[in-house]
Amino acid sequence: MVAVAILAAGRGTRMKSDLPKVLHSLGGRSLVERILHSVAAIAPARQIAIVGYRGDLVKNALQSFTSLEFVEQTQQLGTGHAIQQLLPHLEGFGGDLLVLNGDVPLLRPETLKLLLDTHQQCGNSATLLTAQLPHPKGYGRVFCDGQNIVKEIVEDRDCTAAQKQNRRINAGVYCFRWSDLAQVLPQLQPNNDQEEYYLTDVVKFLNPVMAVDVEDEREILGINDRKQLATAYQILQTRVKDNWMAAGVTLIDPDSITIDDTVKLHPDVIVEPQTHLRGATVIGAGSRIGPGSLIENSQIGENVKVLYSVVTDSVVQEGTKIGPYTHLRDRVQVGAKCRVGNFVELKNATLGDRTNAAHLSYLGDATLGNQVNIGAGTITANYDGVKKHRTKIGDRTKTGSNSVLVAPLTLGEDVTVAAGSVVTEDVPDDSLAIARARQVVKKGWRLKTT
Ligand code: UD1
Ligand code: CA
Repeated sequence: MVAVAILAAGRGTRMKSDLPKVLHSLGGRSLVERILHSVAAIAPARQIAIVGYRGDLVKNALQSFTSLEFVEQTQQLGTGHAIQQLLPHLEGFGGDLLVLNGDVPLLRPETLKLLLDTHQQCGNSATLLTAQLPHPKGYGRVFCDGQNIVKEIVEDRDCTAAQKQNRRINAGVYCFRWSDLAQVLPQLQPNNDQEEYYLTDVVKFLNPVMAVDVEDEREILGINDRKQLATAYQILQTRVKDNWMAAGVTLIDPDSITIDDTVKLHPDVIVEPQTHLRGATVIGAGSRIGPGSLIENSQIGENVKVLYSVVTDSVVQEGTKIGPYTHLRDRVQVGAKCRVGNFVELKNATLGDRTNAAHLSYLGDATLGNQVNIGAGTITANYDGVKKHRTKIGDRTKTGSNSVLVAPLTLGEDVTVAAGSVVTEDVPDDSLAIARARQVVKKGWRLKTT
């Protein structure tokens, strides 16, 4: 049986932030959320987050993890002190405890499994993840005998010049036989530069403690400052983009593209430069997104083109062309084979199939049928200063250029609205609506110049 404890009580002083470090966002998810996602794969019997600095904020942010338990560490006296807080909660627990630093967000589930398997197969008292780093500065150094049996862990700031030469570092990910750990936790002493109770000191009292090197050291990066947060983002981006390219997605100039790891792409999607795909976005096969586009929490069908546009919380069906310079927001649904073009904003609007709004329009709170043609400059006046109102436009209806549709308003099917109209009354099917002053031509009229 495995229980997991996540150390999330520290402030993260080096972040220079009011926000607890573990709540800082990395590619759309907080550091601690990322850890919880990796942990889910090993299906632990219990999951406990140790919270302290602005603990209520951390608890709130993790509400969706319903099986997560919280344990308070009211004063942050060190990582060992944090784990000491578990003693009353895990009394009599007979399994292994996996401990994860809340600031090591890039761990892959495979690595956690490897650590657990090694721990259990070798019958270790403790097993910890280590890495050999070219630049080990800032990490605790792990001293082993030839058989990867750990003798001591010394924090960077407590190392002698000679000890600093050791490049094997503690990743902050440990597996303990809980009954052994529970025995030795009370023996920790704050005999170090920070005068803290270090979890790493327990290795002196346990036997055997084994070190397991991680295959790819990029995944154990600990986030202590903003620079490391940026480095972690780069690592995550490389991982995500390499995956999608291997899965048949073309990325043109990958360095200029960002893709959250919550996004799903189908084969033969082409992502052009300066494009950013975020949140729960899905892009269908054969679609071409970008250059210069931002798609957030949206579903894009197959063979769609999106050019220099921003799409949020919306759905676009197959074969539709969006852009250049289109803004879809707030639950827009665009049907198949539509064209939504140059300088068009759609807000909370639904468009049927083969409907076009190609130039300079605002359609807000509107429902359009199939094969509607919205003339250049058509605007739905959806707001009367107090309330928003809907505009409904039937199949095959055409609005002339520069028409204003004053909501609430219903245009039937096969309606034509004359250019320049301000339409304030509903129009039945098969009708022409002209709502503008008639043109006056005064023959033989000339400007008097004297
Ligand atoms: C720690 C390890 C170090 C390791 C490194 C890996 C110790 C003593 N040192 O150092 O060997 O190389 O991680 O990234 O463990 N926390 C609490 N309560 C506390 C103190 C910290 O919950 O009282 C939490 C923090 O919120 C953080 C984690 O523990 O998520 C690690 O703390 P941090 O201060 O970042 O430790 P490091 O100095 O990085
Ligand atoms: Ca750290």
